[in-house]
Amino acid sequence: METTKKLEHVAIIMDGNGRWAKSRGLPRVMGHHAGVKAVERTVRAAKELGIPYLSLYAFSTENWKRPRGEVLGLMGLFRYYLRSKLEELCKEEVRLRFAGELTALPEDIVAILDETAEKTKEFRGTQLITCVNYGGRREILDAVNKMLTAGETGPVTEETLQKYLYLPDVPDPDLIIRTSGELRLSNFWLWQSAYSEYYFTDKYWPDFDKQDLLDAVGDYYERERRYGKA
Ligand code: IPE
Ligand code: IPE
Ligand code: MG
Repeated sequence: METTKKLEHVAIIMDGNGRWAKSRGLPRVMGHHAGVKAVERTVRAAKELGIPYLSLYAFSTENWKRPRGEVLGLMGLFRYYLRSKLEELCKEEVRLRFAGELTALPEDIVAILDETAEKTKEFRGTQLITCVNYGGRREILDAVNKMLTAGETGPVTEETLQKYLYLPDVPDPDLIIRTSGELRLSNFWLWQSAYSEYYFTDKYWPDFDKQDLLDAVGDYYERERRYGKA
C-alpha cells in the first residue's frame, strides 16, 4: 500500500435514503433521518482518520423536483441538525462550510448556515463541507457571472475561474464515494472532479459506517494516480 499519497479531500454522494426506507416499509423521510446518523458517524470517522476536508452532497439543484413534502422534510432536517448539533461540532472543533446557491434556500436556513460557518471558522481540524442547493453546472455558471460582474477580462484561465468558485481554497476531491449502487456524478463537483478517484458501494447511505469509509480509503491508497503522465 502506498501510504505517502495525499488524501486531503473525501467527497461523498450520500445516496439511497429513500430505498433504505422503502425496504423497511417506512416513508422516505425516515430514510433521511437515518441518513443524518450516518453523517454523524462519518464525520467522527473522518476526524479520527485525520482527513482534512470532508464534503457531503446533501441537496442538489435538481432535488427541488421532489414532492413538496419530501423537500420540506429535508429542509426541516437541516434546521434540526444544525441547531441541535452545533454545540457538539464546536466541541469537536469541526469547521462547517457550505457550498451551493445558498440564497435560494429559506431565509431562516440561510441565517443558520451563516451563523454556523461564522461560529466555526477558526477551527483548524476537519472541515465539513455540506453541499446544499448545489449543482456543478450552477457553480460554474455562478463563477462565470461573478467574473463578469467583477469586470474580469479575458483570456480566462483555470486559476481565474477557480477564484470565483464557491469555496476556492478547498482542494479538489481526491476520492469521491457514492453509495447505493448508482454509478454517476449527478452534477456533483463537476469542475473539481477532473482527476478524482471514484469508489462505489452498493450500501444505502443510512447503513454507511466507519468500516465502509476505511474500505474506500484503503482502496484509494491502492490506486495509481497518473494525471495523464506515462
Ligand atoms: C439521497 O437519498 C439523499 C438526497 C438526495 C437528499 P435519496 O433520497 O436520493 O434516496 P434514493 O436514491 O431515492 O433511494
Ligand atoms: C444525488 O442524488 C444528490 C444527492 C445525494 C444530494 P440523487 O438521488 O438526487 O441523484 P439521481 O437523481 O439518482 O441522479
Ligand atoms: Mg437518490
